[in-house]
Amino acid sequence: MRERLESLRTEALQEIQSATEMELIKELKVKYLGKKGELTAVLRGMGSLSAEERPVIGGLANEVRAALETAFAQKSESLETEELEAKLQSETIDVTLPGASLEPGSIHPLHSVIEQIEDIFIGMGFEIAEGPEVELDHYNFEMLNLPKDHPARDMQDSFYITPEILLRTHTSSVQGRTLLAKEGEVPVRIIMPGKVYRRDDDDATHSHQFTQIEGLVVDRGVSMGELKGVLLQLIQKMFGPDTEVRLRPSYFPFTEPSVEVDIYHPEKGWLEILGAGMVHPRVLEKAGYDSERYTGFAFGLGVERVAMLKYDIDDIRHLYNNDLRFLRQFKSV
Ligand code: PHE
Repeated sequence: MRERLESLRTEALQEIQSATEMELIKELKVKYLGKKGELTAVLRGMGSLSAEERPVIGGLANEVRAALETAFAQKSESLETEELEAKLQSETIDVTLPGASLEPGSIHPLHSVIEQIEDIFIGMGFEIAEGPEVELDHYNFEMLNLPKDHPARDMQDSFYITPEILLRTHTSSVQGRTLLAKEGEVPVRIIMPGKVYRRDDDDATHSHQFTQIEGLVVDRGVSMGELKGVLLQLIQKMFGPDTEVRLRPSYFPFTEPSVEVDIYHPEKGWLEILGAGMVHPRVLEKAGYDSERYTGFAFGLGVERVAMLKYDIDDIRHLYNNDLRFLRQFKSV
């Protein structure tokens, strides 16, 4: 029995030593120390021993058990540390590796021009209003003194959806809507930015869809002089204090008198950037404003023209093609 215990100790200690996983340690524990384990089996045979032998063998058995328990404990501890270290090693993050770069976008030049113009007008006490792009003929033409048979309708080739609904041809369509909403109240000082649509063949200077900013002021005693002053403020803030401007007489059915405003570009010469004029009394009346008491001015500015001049863009299509090589140039704008 002594030999059995001795060889059990040697064999067990060897197996414990060579174990490389915690799982195996658990299995070995069951194998040697479990209820049906080998040491227990040996101890069960103690009954057949003599009275002298029993304490000696019992002592040895306890010794073997203690030795195995210590070996299990030590091995478990070292395996646990190893496993933890392996885990830490495999999960290490190398903070010095370069990350996936997130390229920040930039504000589109058209949008940037709209924001700059909005800021200038907000500084002059204007509010911002918007209207629908799919518009009723009523607001796009009728309310602007352009009845159905008016020849000036041909000035703006339109995309009709039904005989009464079209894609708005200008932001002037928002004039009537805002005036009606103001219900005869003054002062009215608003700008109305947005997309407009006209049938056109797209090329370097034409686009079937472009952007306008409409301006409208209605109050007592509003004059052409004020219109000129506001436009000059705008242009000199956008293009610098020395920018030359030229007002030419023009015609729009919804303004009287009407002007077109050009600004001077050293290479391209005079370029038209907006149409304007004193609001036609009939437009005021149709929107519920007494044209005997109130006057007003309005203007419609082409945002693409301004953006092209300001940033020296030679083709309007650059503003719509979304070529990143073009857009990346506006990071600091
Ligand atoms: N709506 C005109 C256009 O698109 C511009 C304009 C607006 C003219 C307001 C006068 C007053 O051509």
